[in-house]
Amino acid sequence: MSTETIGPESAPATPANQHGYRDFRLGAFAFSRDEYFAHIVWPTGQHVMSIDSFLRALQRDIAWNFFYGIVNFDGVFGTTNHYGMVDVFAGRYNDAYRKAELDHLETVDTPVVHDVFVDIIKDWTNNGFDPFASPAETGSAFGVKNGDNDAAVTRERVTAQRMVGLPDDEQPRSDESGYPINRQFLDVPQDEPEVRAEPGYEGQIAAFSLKAYLSRSDVTWNPSVVSVCRDSLMCPTTEEYILPIIHGNDRAEWFIQLSDEITWEVEDRDTGRKRATVVMKPGDVAAMPADIRHQGYSPKRSMLLVWENNSSEIPELIATGKVSSRPVDFGE
Ligand code: PHB
Ligand code: FE
Repeated sequence: MSTETIGPESAPATPANQHGYRDFRLGAFAFSRDEYFAHIVWPTGQHVMSIDSFLRALQRDIAWNFFYGIVNFDGVFGTTNHYGMVDVFAGRYNDAYRKAELDHLETVDTPVVHDVFVDIIKDWTNNGFDPFASPAETGSAFGVKNGDNDAAVTRERVTAQRMVGLPDDEQPRSDESGYPINRQFLDVPQDEPEVRAEPGYEGQIAAFSLKAYLSRSDVTWNPSVVSVCRDSLMCPTTEEYILPIIHGNDRAEWFIQLSDEITWEVEDRDTGRKRATVVMKPGDVAAMPADIRHQGYSPKRSMLLVWENNSSEIPELIATGKVSSRPVDFGE
């Protein structure tokens, strides 16, 4: 494997190519796009991805600030979060690339890779394409350069400080606030709980209908934080089509399927070897271990609650064997 650490300087972007898109560099990685594809080149190899898949993955990597652990755009290219630094890699978690020594990895300060990724997504996203939307609810990513969609690609994810509905925090969604009910959730009841606080507690107690809230989500595969209790984060999300990344965990995560159905393909995090297929139906709960990677398939829009432990100590505790990579043991 070739490894490099690069500093804050990244080369200036080039003028537009014949398709209207700029090329970008990040260390020894070069990125370019044409009408259909993103091309990634590094000293020992090259890779091509469909531009819609690439932009959907890139959008999430940016909006989630490189997320927990590994964001694989596909089986070859991705990022690993070291919380302050980010590895940008090709083939690092792919047995065949590793064995052929075609893999490459660069460790970059988070703001540097963030800025380059933002430049790429702004330049390569055309007017009418929203990487966060379901394919049925957005325009095309393909073709020659045609305007931009900065409003969509600079969207920040919802993160409540304590809980949706509390004063000075995120609020429930409504038609008036610009969140109509999604076409696939028209049957979801919209009534909200009534809160009657004891005198002295007004403004300190809140409740909201999570299903009504999710029925009005305009994005897919984008967990938002709706309640926070120390390191315990409730991150519900609405899903449709395919999770645009293959997520390599650095901690255990819990999934609670709130509606409809998602199939999860679960693989070994480091080699990509198949480990399980998990089909989740409404009410099912799954605990995803810290040594896997997974990708979800949702044939119609569904509601999923992701429960994350946000403690920054966990990756180290797992790496040093102080806590198990399995969130639950059934006594083998
Ligand atoms: C996950 O990687 O666990 C994940 C990411 C995004 C989602 C759901 C699950 O929307
Ligand atoms: Fe995950």
